[in-house]
Amino acid sequence: MKANHWYVLLAIVLFTVGCSKNEVIKEEIESFLGFRKPGNFPEPEYNFAANPVTKAGFELGRALFYEPRFSRDNSISCGSCHIQSAAFTHHGHDVSHGIEDRLGKRNSPPIMNLAWRKSFMWDGGVFDLDLQPIAPITAHEEMDETLDRVLAKLKAMPKYTGLFKTAFGTEEITTARTMKAMSQFMLMCISSNAKYDKVLRKEDNQVFTAEEEQGFVLFKQHCTSCHTAPLFTDESFRNNGIGIGSVDDLGRYEITANDTDRYKFKVPSLRNLKYTAPYMHDGRFYSLKGVLDHYASEVQQSPNLDPLLQQNGRLGIQLSEADKNYLLAFLNTLNDEMFIKDKSLSEQ
Ligand code: HEC
Ligand code: HEC
Repeated sequence: MKANHWYVLLAIVLFTVGCSKNEVIKEEIESFLGFRKPGNFPEPEYNFAANPVTKAGFELGRALFYEPRFSRDNSISCGSCHIQSAAFTHHGHDVSHGIEDRLGKRNSPPIMNLAWRKSFMWDGGVFDLDLQPIAPITAHEEMDETLDRVLAKLKAMPKYTGLFKTAFGTEEITTARTMKAMSQFMLMCISSNAKYDKVLRKEDNQVFTAEEEQGFVLFKQHCTSCHTAPLFTDESFRNNGIGIGSVDDLGRYEITANDTDRYKFKVPSLRNLKYTAPYMHDGRFYSLKGVLDHYASEVQQSPNLDPLLQQNGRLGIQLSEADKNYLLAFLNTLNDEMFIKDKSLSEQ
């Protein structure tokens, strides 16, 4: 009898422990998980020790990212040129449109997997994500505002004094805190759930179709040396032979003033291409078919053209029409619908 009581008690204890553990797990799932490295990604480059991502910091960063008061006339937010449904690019615009519809000279890149970037911008002119927002805020053709005025506007809004206090412990609104919070939001814009990732991680029984597989083989043969998986960029600067566009943009040379850097641009990731047209640093190609036709037959000789695109006495990459279709099928496996629909990254 006595022994049975003990069993009942033990059962109750185990049951309660079990329940509270489940509660904790449930709470964890419902609440903010912080920055997590996807299983098939390398270690990030960003120094998280100096700016750990917290729920409050992320939420403040998100509010700031969608805050139009960063622009002189309060009309443009970061989210105006980096739109989530377009994988945080400016869909349909070859070069970005800023305040008063002023035109920039470059295509707005996705805010995506930035924790793994070694440098930012098409020319790598920015090294630290925490300093990146200063460029668009102060650029004449983007937000055309000063940091002092932005801080004054934020300080005048009770919403922000509250958010800064929760995120950083006091109400003080400084440039450093503003930048750190924005980084926390942007670092959480992780795209790692495309079909490609699921196939590689052996998730949800996903496998490539025969066409996708064939495209993957061609991709590894012709594209990987620059567009290296899993981020689909090796972070280097190259001239891929598109030739000089309507603006004589010298690319990497504008940062280094080194002649061997003329017309070199950061190799872009190839994730989410379905949502990010048009393509290249000046958005000159409106379709992926156009991009593949370029590599197959339109590569132009120009200073510093990459050696990989002038091999065996010919310019470009030899691709048949069938090869192009296989490649398109493979590139399609890099689109991540979960990313562009993730509500936690949308304006609240
Ligand atoms: C007027 C459109 C516009 C606005 C507004 C804008 N951006 Fe951008 N963003 C761009 C363009 C264009 C580039 C590429 C510039 C270049 O390479 O010279 C860029 C580049 C970036 C990059 C680098 C991405 C990479 O892969 O290298 C980040 C990060 C970024 N923007 C964040 C922001 C933040 C944060 C804000 C708000 C403070 C903002 N942007 C506002 C158009 C815009
Ligand atoms: C020698 C390095 C190199 C090779 C090889 C290469 N690319 Fe690129 N790719 C680049 C560079 C650099 C850019 C950006 C050029 C620019 O904007 O001026 C680019 C841009 C692109 C873009 C536009 C992406 C965007 O967001 O704008 C696509 C798509 C693309 N490449 C696909 C491919 C495919 C597919 C292959 C293989 C058939 C390939 N590339 C081979 C270097 C390379």
